This record gives sequence, structure tokens and C-alpha cells, in this order.
Amino acid sequence: MIAPSAEAGVWHRKHLLSIAELSRAEIVHVLDTAAGFQEVSTRSVKKVPALRGRVVVTMFFEESTRTRLSFELAAQRLSADVLDLAEKMSSTGKGETLVDTAKNIEAMGVDIMVVRHPAAGAAQRLSEEVGCCVVNAGDGLHAHPTQALLDAFTIRERKGRVEGLNVAIVGDIHHSRVARSDIRVLQKLGATVWLCGPPTLVPRTFESMGARVAWDFESILPEMDVISMLRIQKERMSASGFPSAREYVRFFGMNRERLRKCKPDVLIMHPGPVNRGIELSPDVADGPHSSILRQVTNGLAVRMAVLFLCQQAAAQVD
Ligand code: CP
Repeated sequence: MIAPSAEAGVWHRKHLLSIAELSRAEIVHVLDTAAGFQEVSTRSVKKVPALRGRVVVTMFFEESTRTRLSFELAAQRLSADVLDLAEKMSSTGKGETLVDTAKNIEAMGVDIMVVRHPAAGAAQRLSEEVGCCVVNAGDGLHAHPTQALLDAFTIRERKGRVEGLNVAIVGDIHHSRVARSDIRVLQKLGATVWLCGPPTLVPRTFESMGARVAWDFESILPEMDVISMLRIQKERMSASGFPSAREYVRFFGMNRERLRKCKPDVLIMHPGPVNRGIELSPDVADGPHSSILRQVTNGLAVRMAVLFLCQQAAAQVD
């Protein structure tokens, strides 16, 4: 099977920049397309020719393990040629702008740029400047659309649906692009999203996105179908508004005792990287409720779907 079984005609975007721009039908189409691609990874020869002759470049200006490698592997599984811009070895250090770097890379005949950058809006800006497809792999505090799509995919896979579920996102919501993208994707699919953490990191302003804010983790545990623990960004711990790690664990860490207060089939998620013993105790992270590694596995199929759909849309336009 080259193309997945999802219904054609829903997706017409050559760029994926944020979840905010996607309709519910487009999100479902990506998830269905990803479900079709899952089978490729079970083959002895884990490749399909969907992007043969195409070139994908990963341009990461921030650290990454999961997103970078899964985009690279996804492109390889689709038979694309894959280039990786190593930021520290590139000419950006000599003063070249991001747009100039992108235009020079595009001049080599690249079809898809996968971009992670600390500045919100970086992927959007590149999409306005280059002719090839641009996929946002995380931009500042703004968006991480493929993480949100793989989270939704994993919830749908494990729970059979997203609609009607209570999903809590716990931690530093204020500084989290994952939270912003998860809120949007889950709401578009019909879930109720709860945001939980210290008041300084979970401001009530998020209620304007339709999310429910709860500062008492214990009080919401029994009602949640899914609990996604966000990484505590240690690099921000010295800033005012952050509790100490010890205090954070006491009030917001997921552990065996708190798990007992949850529904018996609660799903525990984490986008990674995990700080073991802070967001989750090791027994919960490695336990039967955890979907942490399944999220990573599913990320590959979701990123195959995104690369495939964007390239297909670009081919129709050109
Ligand atoms: N979840 C996530 O974006 O992980 P990486 O930073 O390792 O890509």
C-alpha cells in the first residue's frame, strides 16, 4: 500500500504551521492517513515510494530528539532524500538570516522544510518566503502541531475516541507550545480540556481558549480520562513564579498514590523529554497506564502522514 485509506479531497495545504488553522475534518484526515501508514513500520522492508525523488530538509535551531529523528525517519520511510541542517555547523553562525538560509537551501531543489526555531512565527515567516512546503516542528511558545496530532492519535487509539473525554494537561502551561496546540486539537475533536498547575504557570487567561483551569490537582483526578504531564522546564526554574522542584512534585507530580485516585483506565501521557521523579514517578512513567513510548511510535506515522499530505497538496497546486 502506497497511499493510506483515508478519504481524499479534505487536505489542500502545502504547509502545516499550527493546529489553529486546521478544521476538524482536516485533523481527522491526518489521523486516518497516519493510521494507514502505521502498517509500513511493521514490514520487513519499512519503506513506501510515496516521496521517492523528493527532498526533505530538517532545520532545527533548538535541541530535539523525538521530533527531529521521527521526521527524518518518516521522510526516509516515504523514500525521500533527507538532508539535515546542523545549526552549529551552518552559516547562520556567520550572520546569515533564517530567511536567507532557507532560500539558499530551497535553491538546491528541496521540496519540504521541517523547521524548529525558538522564535514564534518562524515557520509562518518561512512559508511566506519560500516556494516549497514548510512544516512547523515547534516555534517558540506558539505551536507544536505534530506533537498535538500524535497526542490526539494516541488518545484515539487507546480510548477509541477523543470526543467526550476529560483531558488534563498538567504543568507549565504558560511556557508550553505543546499545551497550546493540544488544547486546540483536543477541543476541535470534542474533548474537554483541563489545565492544571501552579497559578503562576496556569493563568486564567487560558479560559479564553475554552479550557478549564484547575489549580488543585487532587480535586480533578477522579474525573480525568487522560492526564498529560508536561515537562518542567528546568531552565526556567530560577525565574520568579516557579516553585522549587520539591514543591512541584508535592503538589503536581503524578505518582502511585495519585494514580489510585484516578479512573482505573486513565491514560497517562507525556510529550517528552521526561524529568523522572519530577513530573512522574518512574513506576508511573514505565507502568501500564503510561503511553509515553507509544506516543513516540505514533509520532512516526503521524509525521509520515503530514509530509505525504503536504507534498501531495503542493503537487496539485504546481
Ligand atoms: N516532544 C518533543 O518535541 O520532543 P523533542 O524536543 O525531543 O523533539
